[in-house]
Amino acid sequence: MLYLSIKYKIFVGLLVSASLIASTYLFGIHLASLETRDIYKEVYNSAPQLKKDLEEAISRVRGLEEKLRAVELMVPKTYDEVTYLNYLKKKRILITGGAGFVGSHLVDKLMKSGHDVVVVDNFFTGRRKNVEHWIGHANFELIHHDIVNPLYIEVDKIYHLASPASPPHYMENPVKTIKTNSLGTLNMLGLAKRVNATILIASTSEVYGDPEVHPQSETYWGHVNPIGPRACYDEGKRIAETLTYAYAKMEDVEVRVARIFNTYGPRMHMNDGRVVSNFILGALQNNGITVYGGGQQTRSFQYVSDLVDGLIALMESNYTLPVNIGNPSEHTINEFATIIKGMIGGNSEIKHIAAMEDDPQKRKPDIKRAKEYLGWEPKVSLNEGLKKTVDYFKQELKLM
Ligand SMILES: NC(=O)c1ccc[n+]([C@@H]2O[C@H](COP(=O)([O-])OP(=O)(O)OC[C@H]3O[C@@H](n4cnc5c(N)ncnc54)[C@H](O)[C@@H]3O)[C@@H](O)[C@H]2O)c1
Repeated sequence: MLYLSIKYKIFVGLLVSASLIASTYLFGIHLASLETRDIYKEVYNSAPQLKKDLEEAISRVRGLEEKLRAVELMVPKTYDEVTYLNYLKKKRILITGGAGFVGSHLVDKLMKSGHDVVVVDNFFTGRRKNVEHWIGHANFELIHHDIVNPLYIEVDKIYHLASPASPPHYMENPVKTIKTNSLGTLNMLGLAKRVNATILIASTSEVYGDPEVHPQSETYWGHVNPIGPRACYDEGKRIAETLTYAYAKMEDVEVRVARIFNTYGPRMHMNDGRVVSNFILGALQNNGITVYGGGQQTRSFQYVSDLVDGLIALMESNYTLPVNIGNPSEHTINEFATIIKGMIGGNSEIKHIAAMEDDPQKRKPDIKRAKEYLGWEPKVSLNEGLKKTVDYFKQELKLM
């Protein structure tokens, strides 16, 4: 009996302690859930305040960013050295299309020579990046303007380069290409007349079309299909030349006409669909080098610094008839493909696809005129120029 009562007491004791533990545990959970609920409630209640604080912080950060930008602008920017010219020698020079490939190199050369340079560009194919290293310089001005509309400024010289230059660009909007070369050129000639400025027109070897004479001299009248896919550009440049000589004859405007042949170099458009850029890009990206047609068609390429020297020599001369500015060293397209493949390496294959419509078969400038009247001829070898261009492409593709 005694034994049973002890057992019973132990049993009851265990039962009581178990229920005590269980209730404490359940009470704990209950307390914890109450606590969590309180935190949620607190967060929920303070959410509008948190949101307000966050918004305030963001606006303060933005304010600080603006102040930082203003401070950055106050820190003097460093520029390439610019020659000092006195007021008699210093000219105010307008470059239309100055944010483009050729134009931006001309900007560099004229800025370094000490002139005041005004760039006018609508950024259709040009980039602010091409001239940003001069922005803020006292001699430099950049105007966002479409030359199809008149422009009223005071300048001494005009280099008129604004026009899309590569087939994909000028074919994208043929009507605009014609307007730029006709109305745009008319506007620039009108400006030259009004302010008595000398104007240089950037014409092209395309005025010779698919030439029947070889090499092409300035006396050749050309072989252009007036309704083909390239006509908007070829005929656009031909009317630009016609307008230029009409202004020279009727209005006594001082004119220069440069017939530019294929040019390459840093800042050229990577996707302009032209031979040099296509081949370099294809080889660098191991996508293969694509040749249109058999590859026996020829081209002669000049390096951009040679062209810039030629344009300045022409402007400074007193020669008013058209002048070819190009490199007469001629290569077949197949040769170019092999040279570029050899320079870049990799395992790109050279592949041939169907020829392009109206693709000229031969191109080589006769540069006797430039040599005789400007004392100009190209200096940069194909190897040297291509190396610089390949380096530029590598930088742009972040391969260096
Ligand atoms: N690069 C060549 O191989 C080559 C050959 C022959 C002739 N050209 C001529 O040289 C000039 C410059 O050629 P590029 O290779 O530097 O071409 P690009 O396309 O790099 O430069 C042309 C510039 O003109 C600007 N532009 C175009 N339409 C305009 C408009 N309506 N108003 C204002 N700006 C406008 C573009 O934004 C661009 O900055 C062009 O007139 C071209 O026809 C070039």
